[in-house]
Formats: sequence, structure tokens, C-alpha cells
Amino acid sequence: MSHSVRVFPTREALAQNFAAILIKDLDRVEPDHFYTIALSGGSTPEYIFRYLAENYAERISWEKLLVFWGDERCVPPEDEESNYRMAFESLLQNVPIPDANIFRIRGEDDPPAEARQYAELVSSTIPEYRDLPQFDLMLLGLGDDGHIASIFPDRPDLFTSGELFEVVYRPDRKQKRITATGRLINNSSKIYYIVTGKGKASIVSAIVEGKSGSELYPASRIMPGSGHLVWMLDNEAASMLKVGKNQ
Ligand code: 6PG
Repeated sequence: MSHSVRVFPTREALAQNFAAILIKDLDRVEPDHFYTIALSGGSTPEYIFRYLAENYAERISWEKLLVFWGDERCVPPEDEESNYRMAFESLLQNVPIPDANIFRIRGEDDPPAEARQYAELVSSTIPEYRDLPQFDLMLLGLGDDGHIASIFPDRPDLFTSGELFEVVYRPDRKQKRITATGRLINNSSKIYYIVTGKGKASIVSAIVEGKSGSELYPASRIMPGSGHLVWMLDNEAASMLKVGKNQ
């Protein structure tokens, strides 16, 4: 699989680069068209969101963005655990984006019904590519156990599921979640991993370098049909990579 690995000296430099990507992509969007993005939960995405709000509230064409989520915890939107709450407080409430452009997963609703409802919403709002909705940009954090969105290592079936969104249960957190499935994620036009910190160095090197056993990590199965997969790392997360960067 081809991917590019971009390493930045700091989280701030990574965030600046991500902002530059958004600015460039949004500048190319024709009038009356939109750019669809699926957000992720997690601490690194949260840092990036805050950085964008603090430094780019006026410089990004937020009104061209349609915001979705790749996963959500089944909790009300004001809950500490809500991915929507995190993105709203860190970014969305601080930038000029119309409410009508924000499509949250309703974590407070019945999970199976909401997974179906959200799949319908995504299908009816986002243009298709190869018979599946295609996000322009899918943002992914990386879990210590190699999970992405809420696809954990015990659910490889979520890569062959015919549904767009499914409900998963996290016994360790006693929590249900709704997640985009592997086929939907891999149908995205661009997928960006955003990963920082020393704690992620080992899992990053296992997956990026395809070490033996790493095929069991959900993140190893991220291969967008478009071929556009980018790992955005800070120095710490990249510290165990042996191969050359920007491959
Ligand atoms: C979530 C996620 C999840 C997250 C990773 C990384 O809702 O928790 O979408 O996939 O991105 O667990 O999270 P950290 O950056 O906090 O390690």
C-alpha cells in the first residue's frame, strides 16, 4: 500500500500543516459546492481543533465545510465522553460555521436505530464513489491497541460489513459506540492519520513499517481506494520509525 508519512517537529507545526491543507482544499471548492469531512475523537484531534479555532477562525472558509463524525460514543451531546461535545467546544462553536453544516451522530438515541439513521443521512448528503458515500477527508486518531474510529481489534468483521455505520460495545469502558465501518472509511477521498506523542511511537512503527503481527491491527487495514493516505506525526510519534520519512 502506498502512503506518505509526514513528520513535524511539534504538534503545533503539524496543526499548521493541517490548516494549510484545509485552506488549499476549500479554496478549490466551487461556489455552491461543499467539502465533506468526518471528524474523529481523541486527544490529538482535540489539540488540532483548538489550534484551528485559535489561529484560523477567520482564514478558513468554514461555510464550505460539511462536518460529520467517523464515530461517536452513545452518550448525550453534553456528556464529557461525547466526541461531538469535544469538537463543538474546541472548534465548532469558535468558528463561523453554520449550524446547518454540522451533522452529529445522536449518541443519546437508540444505538442501532441511530446507526441506521446516520447511515441514511450520510448516504443522502454525500456524493457517491463506487456506489458508496465518499467523504472528501476522513480524519483518524490512532488508539494504543491499533484501533481507528471505534473499530477495535476484536471486530475485524467491521471491515467486511455491508452497513455504513454499526454499533460496537467496549466492555472495558462499559460503553456503546457507533462507528463508520471499514468500507466506508476506505472509500474516503483522503484519509489523514493525526498522531502525536511518545506513547504512540511503537504502534505507529508497527503499522507504518508493516511489522509481523501488525496485520491484526484495524489501522493496518486502512487503504483508501483513492490511494491517498497520509500519516501526520510529530517527532515523538515518529521516533521509532526506521524507514525514511516522506516515502
Ligand atoms: C474515539 C476515537 C478514537 C481515537 C483514538 C485515539 O472516539 O475515541 O475516534 O479512534 O481517535 O482512540 O485517541 P487519543 O488521541 O486520545 O489516543
